Amino acid sequence: LEFLMADAVAQGADCVITIGGIQSNHCRATAVTAKYLNLDCYLILRTSKVLVDQDPGLTGNLLVERLVGAHIDLISKEEYAKIGSESLTNLLKEKLLNEGRRPYVIPVGGSNSLGTWGYIEAIREIEQQLQTGTGEIKFDDIVVACGSGGTIAGLSLGSWLSTLKAKVHAFSVCDDPDYFYDFIQGLLNGLEAGVDSRDIVNIHNAKGLGYAINTSEELKFVKEVAAAT
Ligand SMILES: Cc1ncc(COP(=O)(O)O)c(C=O)c1O
Repeated sequence: LEFLMADAVAQGADCVITIGGIQSNHCRATAVTAKYLNLDCYLILRTSKVLVDQDPGLTGNLLVERLVGAHIDLISKEEYAKIGSESLTNLLKEKLLNEGRRPYVIPVGGSNSLGTWGYIEAIREIEQQLQTGTGEIKFDDIVVACGSGGTIAGLSLGSWLSTLKAKVHAFSVCDDPDYFYDFIQGLLNGLEAGVDSRDIVNIHNAKGLGYAINTSEELKFVKEVAAAT
């Protein structure tokens, strides 16, 4: 996000557009960062039909986004699937351009080649902290959730390039592993990384019942882990 926002500023944008699920952490971070940079923020948030018709209120990240004055458009999961995130952000971009604005579009999760630098940089920070630390912390594996792919693209490339060489294991929450291997390959190619996504990251299918849908067993497990750690 840091790199994408810098690009927005460098391009002379006066507002940013991004898109994601109703409780997207990426959208919240974008809204707050935009505020710091004096840019307007336009969010397209995907939710159930019921919540599109009745205001979803001030829950979780939505509270923060509304506190910092982000403009919020709600869209049903069905419409989102039909139109696609790229077209949705481009439609809003056209509308804002017609109003004389200078919008900068950030894709879902900030997951493009430029955004990947954020997590390459995160690995550099971890490596630096390990070198300056007491040497007590050692690890061979990094385990993360995968929603839009940028996190694992940056972590796996960074880890592979660095001295860490930790294997990245991703649990994909919304698309199949094959989709992500290909998507991440596109991000890596965009960076001319010269590496095969399948060689640097293990992606496991963790879609379960679907995005943001839990079984009672899963919720019980989360509670047990929370209580025990
Ligand atoms: C807490 C958390 N972890 C991991 C992810 C996955 O990141 P990415 O969208 O880059 O795959 C997300 C977002 O989707 C997230 O909110």
